Amino acid sequence: MQNLFFLCLITCLSVFDSNIFIAQAVTSRSEIAALKAFKSSIKPSSIKPGSCLASWNFTVDPCSTPRRTYFTCGLTCTPDSAHINQITLDPVGYTGSLTPLISRLIHLVTLDLSENSFFGPIPFSLYYLPVLQTLTLRSNSFSGSIPLAIKSLISLQSLDLSHNSLSGSVPVSLNYLTRIRRIDLSFNKLTGSIPKLPPNLSELAIKGNSLSGPLQKSTFERAYKLAVVELSENRLYGKLEPWLFQLPSLQQVDLANNRFNGIEIWKPVRGRSSDLVAIDIGYNKIQGYVPANLSAYPTLSSLSLRYNLLRGKIPEEYGESKSLRRLFLDGNFLNGKPPAGLVVSGKIFAGSLGNNCLVGCPASSELCKPAQKPTSVCKKA
Ligand SMILES: *[C@@H]1O[C@H](CO)[C@@H](O)[C@H](O)[C@H]1NC(C)=O
Ligand SMILES: *[C@@H]1O[C@H](CO)[C@@H](O)[C@H](O)[C@H]1NC(C)=O
Ligand SMILES: *[C@@H]1O[C@H](CO)[C@@H](O)[C@H](O)[C@H]1NC(C)=O
Repeated sequence: MQNLFFLCLITCLSVFDSNIFIAQAVTSRSEIAALKAFKSSIKPSSIKPGSCLASWNFTVDPCSTPRRTYFTCGLTCTPDSAHINQITLDPVGYTGSLTPLISRLIHLVTLDLSENSFFGPIPFSLYYLPVLQTLTLRSNSFSGSIPLAIKSLISLQSLDLSHNSLSGSVPVSLNYLTRIRRIDLSFNKLTGSIPKLPPNLSELAIKGNSLSGPLQKSTFERAYKLAVVELSENRLYGKLEPWLFQLPSLQQVDLANNRFNGIEIWKPVRGRSSDLVAIDIGYNKIQGYVPANLSAYPTLSSLSLRYNLLRGKIPEEYGESKSLRRLFLDGNFLNGKPPAGLVVSGKIFAGSLGNNCLVGCPASSELCKPAQKPTSVCKKA
């Protein structure tokens, strides 16, 4: 076997079976060693028969083709069969640590270990993979922090470390990742504030952590392409300022379940249309009035401000909106009569104006359920 290997190094072509000529693979030895280390740091009992890793048998070359028996899945090679360019494991519950030798796979473009049970730190060396574009470690048990060194992943376009046990702060160096378009760090144990965002970012999700602080304008200053912002279930506080909703590419904002206490909305910037479709700011501590200016956003179809401390009337403009399809204003202290245009049947597909202090919300309208607050509660408010 060893001899065959060296022969192939020289000829790169050999006879396979009796009559098929194929280009015999010569995977880089250092990469084979890294793959072996990768497999051997995974608990053998978690490598089930029929799984991708069970087919990784190093008596054959990982990149040799055709791969009928061994290395049937879990990795792909560069067209010259010399390098591993992708590891995408099947989600079968592999458990173990991720070897630092992974950094030897310097041609790796995609690393996806999602929905397994890897634990321990993400090895520091991983952050030096020069052509890595997609890093997906979603739904494992990785712990430790995300180091500043992440800025060395200069080719990175998509980072998904959601559903792990990562702690510490969101590294300020993310800002240097000029190609990154998607970041998902949701459901970890991250603390601190949100650092300045990189310029190509389109989707940011850091739901279900312990982030705190107000949303700073400087954080979003260069985020011209930001379309999706999901920061629900954190400890963010302060006032939501008009610039946030005027970000030029913004489509969806989810800030539910935080501690925001105020909101100010301006109309979309003159001459520039807005693509804002959905806003969820439910379950905060927002005081003041329901922002009438939101009705000037031409494509806004879903709005939740439920369970805040809003008072005053529901703006008449909401009744005239042609785009609103979901409207949740329940669980506030809104009073007066709801705009007639709103409770017209069929206009709003889903929503609630219930649990407020409204009068004349027709009981026949689904939108008026559940019942309003008792008068005694409303009088106190
Ligand atoms: C690996 O491949 C060799 C050669 O085909 C074979 O003898 C051996 O049983 C294989 N090992 C496993 C674990 O399948
Ligand atoms: C955005 O990404 C593209 C290619 O991925 C790159 O050419 C461009 O320079 C990036 N933009 C910025 C502002 O860095
Ligand atoms: C509505 O938006 C305009 C600017 O578009 C602003 O001047 C005004 O103060 C806003 N109204 C409220 C109540 O915030």
